[in-house]
Amino acid sequence: MSEDKSRHHAAEQQTADVSEAQIAVHWPEEDYFSPSNQFIAQANLADPGVFARFSLDNFPEYFKEFADLLDWYKYWETTFDASHPPFWRWFVGGRINACYNCVDRHLPRYRNKTAIHFVPEPENEAIQHLTYQELFVRVNEFAALLRDFGGLKAGDRVTLHMPMVAELPITMLACARLGVIHSQVFSGFSGKACGDRVSDSGSRLLITMDAYSRAGELIDHKQKADTAVMEAAGTGHQVDKVLIWQRYPGKYSSPTKLVEGRDVIINDVLKEFRGKRVEPVQMPAEAPLFLMYTSGTTGRPKGCQHSTGGYLAYVTWTSKYIQDIHPEDVYWCMADIGWITGHSYIVYGPLALAASSVVYEGVPMYPDAGRPWRIAENLDVNIFHTSPTAIRALRRNGPDEPAKYNFHFKHMTTVGEPIEPEVWKWYHTVVGKGEAVIVDTWWQTENGGFLCSTVPAIHKMKPGSTGPAIPGIHPVIYDDEGTELPGGSGRAGNICIRNPWPGSFQTIWKDPDRYVSQYYSRYCHDPASKDWRDWPYMAGDGAVQAADGYYRILGRIDDVINVAGHRLGTKEIESAALLVPDVAEAAVVPVADPIKGKVPDLYVSLKPGLVPSVKLANKVTASVVSQIGAIARPRRVVIVPDMPKTRSGKIMRRVLAAISNHQDPGDVSTLANPEIVEQIKELAR
Ligand code: PRX
Repeated sequence: MSEDKSRHHAAEQQTADVSEAQIAVHWPEEDYFSPSNQFIAQANLADPGVFARFSLDNFPEYFKEFADLLDWYKYWETTFDASHPPFWRWFVGGRINACYNCVDRHLPRYRNKTAIHFVPEPENEAIQHLTYQELFVRVNEFAALLRDFGGLKAGDRVTLHMPMVAELPITMLACARLGVIHSQVFSGFSGKACGDRVSDSGSRLLITMDAYSRAGELIDHKQKADTAVMEAAGTGHQVDKVLIWQRYPGKYSSPTKLVEGRDVIINDVLKEFRGKRVEPVQMPAEAPLFLMYTSGTTGRPKGCQHSTGGYLAYVTWTSKYIQDIHPEDVYWCMADIGWITGHSYIVYGPLALAASSVVYEGVPMYPDAGRPWRIAENLDVNIFHTSPTAIRALRRNGPDEPAKYNFHFKHMTTVGEPIEPEVWKWYHTVVGKGEAVIVDTWWQTENGGFLCSTVPAIHKMKPGSTGPAIPGIHPVIYDDEGTELPGGSGRAGNICIRNPWPGSFQTIWKDPDRYVSQYYSRYCHDPASKDWRDWPYMAGDGAVQAADGYYRILGRIDDVINVAGHRLGTKEIESAALLVPDVAEAAVVPVADPIKGKVPDLYVSLKPGLVPSVKLANKVTASVVSQIGAIARPRRVVIVPDMPKTRSGKIMRRVLAAISNHQDPGDVSTLANPEIVEQIKELAR
């Protein structure tokens, strides 16, 4: 949709909401940067013929190449089954185990190679190097515990609320070995948020850790488990056991008491399972591997259900050819495993390729902005993966730090948000020392792996653009009326993917209707169609495609805000604010932020007769943090006498967003209460 048309459309419909894409920064087109010959010479994929092989004419069989990177117990019969659109099935009839592919199959060649480098946050604590053999032993022993002590079997769900420690991939892989569906909740999320996910997934077991180190503090994490269990109980769901890893084995590091009969210290019970081995369960390709909850357009987070065979094939292929991972590489993705990036590109993709993957416990800036570069130097990391937010923060706090350390990246990734060309160039010149290629990867929790990116040895890089689609992915941009924008038009619209792909989620856990309505209904002209061509996947992002075929992502077109590369539903934040009894109405809008990309501003109005106060604003903030977690903390809470409203009573978030972003709110004369705008401007100054 053109900007003009979009404005017209908004005015016409009195659109009350504002999207990230609408406040996106439009920077000019940049010049290209080329990958070095040295990089190209060693790259896993340098043959441009790949695009012809992965043309839409060859769909779906070209995805066989993805699945052939894996070891199958039983080869599949049908590559792609489209009989129940849009519930696609991949590699049907195949049998596989994800843990086997990430661990066991590497033992003959790589048993003594490091699988996981665990870097504790305190710098005086030794880095732990876990070999593939050690990973095999630990995963087996823990799988035996989960099965024989935890009573878990294939198809059961288990919630993990774990920090960034080696025990997290060990736990995930132990689940995968048994065919148990893991649902890891980001450790920074509150106990309440965890409890909601425990209940929604129907997990009888919650696996957590007593404590972990963050920004120099040993944080009591176990207390969140108590809240989570209570919260789940409030929804009528009972948790039988809480299994607790010790951050320091042999010592309980949390001040929160254990609950008798429910809480179990894993490190104690594990002793009984010493030397135990568990045969990997031969799972159907289509069996769910994990759930990953993410924010959507309604208040409730949704559990994206990812498959075993299709997902693993997709992350393995993209790790090999877009991340350019070779077994001899030391690869560090600084994301948190609690997000999809960590699942796909810390755990499953790199380990399926027998790489050494770094798991760093803490924050990048602790104790100073040189920390990541010391880790890179120490471990000789040569592939680095992080978000624009982290890059901006490292640049602001230590622009000259990378030059002080002797590390050399061949490849770097950015993911999660648009990256400003200026920031990209610092990443390239200073962090990459002018040697590393950069891939700007665009994708989502729902997608399993990358959708758009340059192929690093084939395409030139263009700062500020994600690049074309990866091989096998065929995007299209529609305007709001469903008309396809011509390729390379440079006009903004809604980006969709024409074809299904194996990494895509299978459904929303317990909510298949929402899966269809949110992602497929809008641009499907014939809901009765059995032809996959009629079911484009709608990503929910605004995008433009330049004449060279590169896409630029503008941001969310729905009421989701991407804060520091993490998705938050505005409705979730508003619901948390409304739990404070004094609050009558709440509205959240995205605000551009120099470090975090976007942050939420929260406007609230009070019930009649109540007086605004700082104390009350703090209470609202505290409610958001306890309901969701610190990452949802609003930049500020503005208490207003009334919300700007349409005549039909809809809150005009568009006006609030303009005020927060120091933009012109435009014509407000059609509001029911136009005079409120000036008052709010004063309050929000
Ligand atoms: O708006 C897009 C933005 O992040 C959203 C997906 O967030 P999440 O599911 O949490 O996954 C993040 C990591 C995969 C998208 O809808 N986004 C992701 N990558 C980029 C991006 N925006 C611009 N450029 C990117 N490279």
